[in-house]
Amino acid sequence: MPNYHIRTYGCQMNDRDSESLACLLDALGHTRAESEETADILLFNTCSVRDQAERKALGKIGILKKLKRDRPDLVIGVFGCMAQNLGRSLLDKLPHLDFVAGTDRLHEIPELIAEALDGRNGLVSTDTSEDMPTVLTGHERGQVTGYVSVMRGCNQFCTYCIVPYTRGSERSREPEDIVREIQTLADGGTKEVLLLGQNITAYGLAEARESGALDPQASPFANLLHAVHEVSGIERIRFTSPHVRYMNDAFVDAVCSLPKVCKGFHIPFQSGSDRILKLMNRGYTATEYLDRIKAIRARLPDCSFSTDVIVGFPTETEEDFEATRSVMQKVGYDMAYIFKYSERTGTKAAERLEDTVPEDVKLARNQILLTDLETGAEARNQACVGQERQVLVTGPSKRNASRWSGRTDANKVCIFEPTPGMQPGDLVRIAITHTTSHSLFGNVM
Ligand code: 5AD
Ligand code: SF4
Repeated sequence: MPNYHIRTYGCQMNDRDSESLACLLDALGHTRAESEETADILLFNTCSVRDQAERKALGKIGILKKLKRDRPDLVIGVFGCMAQNLGRSLLDKLPHLDFVAGTDRLHEIPELIAEALDGRNGLVSTDTSEDMPTVLTGHERGQVTGYVSVMRGCNQFCTYCIVPYTRGSERSREPEDIVREIQTLADGGTKEVLLLGQNITAYGLAEARESGALDPQASPFANLLHAVHEVSGIERIRFTSPHVRYMNDAFVDAVCSLPKVCKGFHIPFQSGSDRILKLMNRGYTATEYLDRIKAIRARLPDCSFSTDVIVGFPTETEEDFEATRSVMQKVGYDMAYIFKYSERTGTKAAERLEDTVPEDVKLARNQILLTDLETGAEARNQACVGQERQVLVTGPSKRNASRWSGRTDANKVCIFEPTPGMQPGDLVRIAITHTTSHSLFGNVM
């Protein structure tokens, strides 16, 4: 059978899609190519969230034209968000492509590959559906952390964001199916799960609304956390990304009371200016966001937060930016993804608002937030010196294989000397001896 290689761009959801597709292709008898150069089938899982992500993939696939000319049997397929977003027009840009598969068509990729191997090219499959498409549940063996997709799509329509258009409407999987998948992972030795959804706190809400059972006091996602918590063998539960709009008290209670739920929370806030938040259609004010942070912190004083922020959204003034800076100072994030606004064709922001903030201003604002972040994170890490942390061992450190690394409950990287017999997946206690803004260093106790 021809061998394949998958190159993945973008978010953890894409990582998960690529992993499950690889497992399906393996099950069908394909093998993994040693490298991109030796592959018979080259697959690209693409991202559209920022212009740069699309350009990177287009550039990479563009230069394969010559290779395809030299090796006409080579199959090149594109899937993921950019495939959904650009669809058939990708074939005009890249006529050497064999197929384009949309975000709901992952399960069809083996068939598309088979057709391409038979010499049929220029295939496009980008239909979306209101129903959950076939879910691929295969996982790589022996991973300490397993990624589990619990829902697809997003109904929020934040005005800057392409995701609701590329990943379609919110559809949640049945809790029983999710728990079964996680139990299988645990049986294979996985200790931690990362639950994935573009708008994960809205898990189950579209279905509840449809069946007339929507209860604003309840949280189907909190119920899911309770169910996953029961899975024996799983020691830690993480999730991404929540939306403040759905972080009701039932959610706060679940994350604060369930011991396996990690106490490092990624909670995107995007902007600290109420005027900008409104233009973004985020559905909360800075005060409401901070109130949810406060509610969690009141019960978990040692918890930590990370976030997503956009600088340079259309019309963002110095004052708006300072409001963002102030929210960041108030929360004291350990980590943040800071993005420069990137206009996405088809979104409400692109239709209605001019991309007014000059690139150099976006860059300067980005730098200021990064510096603030680094200073704060360094001080918070420094405060850990002399304390102990429970660390889930991931394995030899990437930089220096004689040292091992793991993650604390708050998702901080911790580096230490391994002890004899130590295995990835072990939970150990580490005494912290020194720190940087990115990592903790210590000794196994
Ligand atoms: N420009 C810049 N950043 C964006 N994000 C989403 N869309 C855009 C855009 N058009 C960021 C948001 C989101 C993260 C995944 O990507 O911060 O939370
Ligand atoms: Fe995009 Fe907003 Fe949905 Fe997140 S919640 S995927 S930012 S539309």
